[in-house]
Amino acid sequence: MSRVIYVNGRYQPYAKAAVHAEDRGFQFADAVYEVIEVSGGKLVDARRHLERLARSLGEISMPMPMSEGALRQIMSETLRRNRVRDGLIYIQVTRGAAPRDFALPGPDVPQSVIVLARRQVRAASDALAEEGIAIMTMRDPRWARSDIKTVMLLPAVLAKAEAKRQGAREVWFTDENGAVTEGGSSNAWIVTPSGKIVTRALDNRILPGITRASAMDTARHLQLQLEERAFTLKEAYEAAEAFITSATNTVMPVVRIDDRLIGSGRPGPVARQLRHAFHHIAEISAL
Ligand code: PDD
Repeated sequence: MSRVIYVNGRYQPYAKAAVHAEDRGFQFADAVYEVIEVSGGKLVDARRHLERLARSLGEISMPMPMSEGALRQIMSETLRRNRVRDGLIYIQVTRGAAPRDFALPGPDVPQSVIVLARRQVRAASDALAEEGIAIMTMRDPRWARSDIKTVMLLPAVLAKAEAKRQGAREVWFTDENGAVTEGGSSNAWIVTPSGKIVTRALDNRILPGITRASAMDTARHLQLQLEERAFTLKEAYEAAEAFITSATNTVMPVVRIDDRLIGSGRPGPVARQLRHAFHHIAEISAL
């Protein structure tokens, strides 16, 4: 069945789904987005994702393009038309199409809104989690507002391409103090040798991950020790375990960082426990 994508009020066939050549998302990355996991036809943590979308828009002085109810209706219809039960929903909102000008367009220019749904096989992610993934590290090349989920993703695209060349699935960025900020498209976590789960506290250098928030809820539910603070690359090399979180991975064990094996070199018990319990704790809702 051919896929359709919601673009500016219409469900367009995949091959024809397009925005204007002068869309500001295309010319300036003047746009924000969300990725929401779909599990069994339901959305995982939709409320938190839509709250973050509103925050990202606010931080770049854009209004929500429509009511939350209208957006949920479009997400539901996009899932239905594409028959997606397990996978993801992608939402992008741009400042719209206008003759190229750095100055912001007036309020008469309508925002562009794109919603697409994609199938993802859960078994593939589970198989990967059984093995764990490798991480490459580099100095964070991004701007100082990584807390806003913008589509300005070229630094992450290039960093992840380099990671792939080096046989790693994800990149971890480090700041000027040698502390890990986050992954190219995920949040970064370690478990210390004494069993504490550590992830960087929210600041301007990291995205406030929704999976991060729900993984923290999960850790608390499991009565695991949790610390929100920056950790150095050295600590990560010497950690008992490491893992990443994102809507597309939930909790994914890390078994190698650069050329160091982490812990036993196999996925650790804390990451496994969090991954297993995650969907029992995250808010899973029909649209
Ligand atoms: N990326 N940090 C960055 C830089 C990210 O791009 C993402 C998500 C995360 C994790 O956030 P969340 O748990 O809300 O997915 C952290 C999405 C999945 C993407 O760009 O495809």
